[in-house]
Amino acid sequence: MVSRVIPVDPFDLVIFGGTGDLARRKILPALYRRFCDEQMPREARIIGAARTEQSPQEYRDWVAEALKEFAPRSAADPDGMAGFLDRVDYLPVDAKGEGGWSDLKSKMRDDVVQAFYFSVAPALFGDLAERLHHHGIAHEGARIVVEKPFGRDLGTARSLNATLAEHFDESQIYRIDHYLGKETVQNLMAVRFGNVLFEPLWNAQYVDHVQITVAESVGVGGRGSYYDKSGAMRDMVQNHLMQLLCLTAMEPPSRFEPDAVRDEKLKVIRALQSPPLKDIVRGQYKAGDNPSYLDDVEEPDSRTESFIAMKLHIANWRWNGTPFYLRTGKRLKTRKSEIVVHFKEPPHSIFDEDAGSRPNILSIRLQPDEGIDLSVTIKEPGPGGMRLIDVPLDMSFADALGPEAADVPDAYERLIMDVIRGNQTLFMRGDEVEAAWAWTDPLIEAWTERGDRPVPYEPGSAGPEDSAILMHRDSRRWREVG
Ligand SMILES: NC(=O)c1ccc[n+]([C@@H]2O[C@H](COP(=O)([O-])OP(=O)(O)OC[C@H]3O[C@@H](n4cnc5c(N)ncnc54)[C@H](OP(=O)(O)O)[C@@H]3O)[C@@H](O)[C@H]2O)c1
Repeated sequence: MVSRVIPVDPFDLVIFGGTGDLARRKILPALYRRFCDEQMPREARIIGAARTEQSPQEYRDWVAEALKEFAPRSAADPDGMAGFLDRVDYLPVDAKGEGGWSDLKSKMRDDVVQAFYFSVAPALFGDLAERLHHHGIAHEGARIVVEKPFGRDLGTARSLNATLAEHFDESQIYRIDHYLGKETVQNLMAVRFGNVLFEPLWNAQYVDHVQITVAESVGVGGRGSYYDKSGAMRDMVQNHLMQLLCLTAMEPPSRFEPDAVRDEKLKVIRALQSPPLKDIVRGQYKAGDNPSYLDDVEEPDSRTESFIAMKLHIANWRWNGTPFYLRTGKRLKTRKSEIVVHFKEPPHSIFDEDAGSRPNILSIRLQPDEGIDLSVTIKEPGPGGMRLIDVPLDMSFADALGPEAADVPDAYERLIMDVIRGNQTLFMRGDEVEAAWAWTDPLIEAWTERGDRPVPYEPGSAGPEDSAILMHRDSRRWREVG
């Protein structure tokens, strides 16, 4: 039982960086799956653009290989594949030179939705925006999609926003955070605002604390030198974890509309207090079966963190006194992302002390298997006395909605279709990104100034011991990572 598919309007989608890794692994497979679900109209066109000189047919062959690898189930249908490839074109275009731009202009149609996906290094975003404008290629309603990272601090994010704003209106700019395209993240909003059950309890009076975890089992791998300039704070907290925190903590927007939702998220970021450094734990993974972080980045004196945990407070009426604990890291026990809302215990227990009592826990899993479950306390069945146990009310999609729903669309599928539909709700607005950096920068400056070194942690663990201590100090504990 999945929702019916409504085809989007005809479009020309230009993928700058159409020969890159992101295009191959995510963008093209996402488009192909939308095509297979008949969401893409006959008149849709996808134009790959990059410096590589090749014919459209050579590009189609490359796309076909990418689909076989990254959309294998859909790619098994040869008719579907041929139909999709018919819509794919290619043009050599140089973001930094004049080559290819007039050809691109003559290819673009004026009477369809125009979208330009900037799947290139952020250093090229300005060049692309400028040339699209200068050559008169993008019409007034055209949309541009920009990938992360959006700046590396407030200054660079501001200057990037200013550059894009010279050529495009904010309503045309789609800053992607693929976490927002996840089905469960949208379900978080559905659960909160579509039911009367949760919202009255969604505050400091009833919520003891919230945990947000994004754990990865992989190390930094081949991205070592790039990652070392960034670290977990810049790479994950400033964007993905911050967005999850905002959606969890925000006030109900007046409508499920882009600016109404984004206004509320912005208020959360602005209310987020700067934690003292004692409430932040940073770590680097040690060597195990694989090299250590320091070996991976080939920088023996690196002070960049591959793990971070922190305790945060939101200074507003709703959340005063309820901490939000965030953690994310690489080479952890398993790959897992979840938001866990720990409710308080009932104010008074009518049962004997040995009956046991446990607080309700709502967990929203983003990966690996998207779903939501709520633990509730019931009586242990049987003739014994009144003993209480937890049972999960499981809302995993496959169980509740049937096998089709297990085939949850990838975040990119939804987000790209939202770009074509012109719906910015699940994209970050410029002021949100700047506010997130304004909160992040002083923390990074503070630990850099102090010369703090991340603490080493075992690969395959839940992170450094200090992260567990951060919780123990408050008589709490993290949920198991694996
Ligand atoms: N890969 C991921 O999983 C991932 C995840 C999140 C965000 N991102 C972001 O997505 C963007 C693309 O990442 P990627 O991993 O796909 O990078 P990539 O594999 O290095 O691809 C870069 C693309 O840009 C093209 N390019 C480079 N210089 C160009 C120029 N002067 N003019 C036109 N095209 C040019 C390259 O093709 P030519 O060499 O043929 O020009 C290639 O298609 C980056 O901003 C990255 O941070 C990537």
